[in-house]
Amino acid sequence: MLESGKITLEQAREGDAAQLAEISKEAFNSDVNVGAPTRGEDGRPLEEGGPPGYDSPEFQLRMMKLCHYYKIIHDGQIVGGLIASRKKLDHSQIERIFVDPEYHNRGIGTEAMKQVFTKFPDTKVWTLGTPEWNIRTKHFYEKLGFVQIGWTKDEPAWKGRYYEKLMGSNQRYRSLKINELTPDMRGVDIEAKILEISEPRQVRSRTTGKPLKVAEALIADETGTITLTLWNDQIRQAKANDRIRINNGYVTLFRGQKQLNVGRYDQLIFPI
Ligand SMILES: CC(C)(COP(=O)(O)OP(=O)(O)OC[C@H]1O[C@@H](n2cnc3c(N)ncnc32)[C@H](O)[C@@H]1OP(=O)(O)O)[C@@H](O)C(=O)NCCC(=O)NCCS
Repeated sequence: MLESGKITLEQAREGDAAQLAEISKEAFNSDVNVGAPTRGEDGRPLEEGGPPGYDSPEFQLRMMKLCHYYKIIHDGQIVGGLIASRKKLDHSQIERIFVDPEYHNRGIGTEAMKQVFTKFPDTKVWTLGTPEWNIRTKHFYEKLGFVQIGWTKDEPAWKGRYYEKLMGSNQRYRSLKINELTPDMRGVDIEAKILEISEPRQVRSRTTGKPLKVAEALIADETGTITLTLWNDQIRQAKANDRIRINNGYVTLFRGQKQLNVGRYDQLIFPI
């Protein structure tokens, strides 16, 4: 094991993008050893792979602009990367962490995670997602105190484990009840049951002009019901009678009725 003093997290810079993409590529390609599918649904062999943009310098650059992107330094060398984002004041998310396979299992990932927690002292809840098949990350995150509270279904072929780690207190992070929602509320966390979902219809994005699919789900908890707008892939994932959890939704008024919205690219979480 490594002495923790040797690891530092530093803000990644433009000039680091190519090296970080290379390390990320090597790190995620090692997933074939820890459960990554080697054959597609059609039975054909899959090439090595990773999450979107994992081997692309441009993707790393984009993440540096959108998120908090840290390079993990060991003895003056970049040995990995960690991307975190702030979802709201008290909720942050680990978007990605990777370590050069030559340095795996020496405590570097664990130390980098511990250091990122200290960089966001206001964060009461950390969340992250990882594929169901990944036996390595399951062990890694659970040892760090993350608890799986749900599943995500962003990939048709497999499920994702959705993890949460509460900082500072043992209380469960409190979600709101439907009767507490007021127009213009943002950053809404809520758990409810889907009663029914309308047939999807096609609309055009006001900003890009691209076609989008939209459907309305009627969701309920013990305090009431509200309409939840679902977009594109979210429609495939949800069905009547599912329980769902929304992180970071927002409330709008539509024809005088309150309506709950999630971002088009936000995840639906299916609580355990
Ligand atoms: C996940 C990752 C960042 C961990 O980095 P690391 O520096 O090796 O982390 P650590 O050494 O602190 O801890 C690794 C733990 O995983 C365990 N582990 C390694 N291979 C494992 C396997 N096949 N099954 C179960 N646990 C495994 C190690 O034993 C160690 O646990 P321990 O401390 O109890 O012995 C690294 O494996 C990686 O880059 N993976 C590829 C990218 C990835 O999957 N990222 C996360 C998704 S965003």
